[in-house]
Amino acid sequence: MKKEDIQKILEDLDALKCKTAKDVEEARVRYLGKRGEITALFEEFRSVDGAAKREFGRPLNELKQKAIAKIEELKAALAAIEDESAPKADPSLPGDPMELGSRHPVSIVRQEIVDIFRKFGYDVAEGPEIEDDHHVFEALNFPANHPARDMQDTFFVSAGHLNPLLLRTHTSSVQVRAMETMPLPIRVVCPGRVFRNEAISARAHCIFHQIEGLYIDENVTFADLKQAILLFAREMFGPETEIRMRPSYFPFTEPSAEVDVSCNICHGKGCNICKGTGWLEILGCGMVDPNVLKASGIDPEKYSGFAFGMGLERIAMLKWQVNDLRHYFENDLRFLREFNTAIEV
Ligand code: PHE
Repeated sequence: MKKEDIQKILEDLDALKCKTAKDVEEARVRYLGKRGEITALFEEFRSVDGAAKREFGRPLNELKQKAIAKIEELKAALAAIEDESAPKADPSLPGDPMELGSRHPVSIVRQEIVDIFRKFGYDVAEGPEIEDDHHVFEALNFPANHPARDMQDTFFVSAGHLNPLLLRTHTSSVQVRAMETMPLPIRVVCPGRVFRNEAISARAHCIFHQIEGLYIDENVTFADLKQAILLFAREMFGPETEIRMRPSYFPFTEPSAEVDVSCNICHGKGCNICKGTGWLEILGCGMVDPNVLKASGIDPEKYSGFAFGMGLERIAMLKWQVNDLRHYFENDLRFLREFNTAIEV
C-alpha cells in the first residue's frame, strides 16, 4: 500500500466532472463499487501489518468519505440543472375554457314573477312536494268524490286510509300551510313543482311548475283581485297589456275566473299563438271560498281574500313562443342555450 495510491485517487476525485446521471453512477461504481478503486484499497488494508494500519487507516477513511461526498455533490448539481431545464407553463397558451351554464327558462320566468309580486309586498312560501290529502284536497273544499282526487289524476304515495300521502297536484297546498301558520294579513306567492298523472304530449306533462298567490285581509274584494292581476300582467307582458276575466269554477274559490291577457305577439289582430282570438289564457283565480278559510281556522265573517295560480311552463311558452312542453324536460343543450341571452345581469 502506497501513499501515492491514495493521493492519486484524491486528485482524480477533485478533477472529476460529470454531465449526466449515468456519468455519476459510473464514477460511483469506479471508486466505491464492489470492484472499485477505493474498495480495493480497503481490501488491501486488511492484510497490511500494524505499522501500515496505523499509517493508512485514517487517510483511507477520509478518502472514502470524500468520494461519497463528491458523488452526492455531483448528483445534487445535476438535479438542479434538470429542474431548470424542465418545461415551464407557457403563459401565451389559451386557458382551459370554462363553460358557463345558463338558467332554465322555467327558472327565469319564476324569478321574474316572484320579483313582480315581491314589489307588491308578497312573501315567498314553499312546501313539500309529497303532501297529504288534507292539504291538497280536503282543506281546499274538494268534495269526497271530486275527479281530481281520482287515481287517474293524482299520483298516490300511500293509499287506503283517510289521509293518504300523494304528490301535490297544485301548490295551493302551500297556501293551506300558510293559512294554518302565518299571522294575518297574509300575502304570499308559492312557486313549486307539481305532479299530475297525465299522458305526456306537446301540451301536457306529468311534472310541471306553478306559482300560486294568496292574499287574505279584512275587506279584500274582487276589485282588489282584478287590480292585482292587471298590475301583474302589465309588469310581465308590457304596459299596454289588457286582461279579461271569464267565469270559471274551482272548489276553493267562489266566484272563480279564468284570466286572459291580450296577445302580446299580434296585439289583438289574431295570430297562431292566440289562435286568432287576440287573447291568451294565463291563470285561474277567485275569491277564497269561506269553507277554505274556515278549514284553516280563519273567520270568514271577518276576513276575505283572493287566490290565483298559473303554470310556469305555459307563461314561458307564451313569452318565448315555445311550441312543445317536452322541450323543458329533455335537457337538449340546443334548446337550453337559446336562453343564454335571456339572463339579465
Ligand atoms: N290550483 C289551481 C290549479 O292548479 C289554480 C288556482 C289557484 C285557481 C288559485 C284559482 C285560485 O289549477
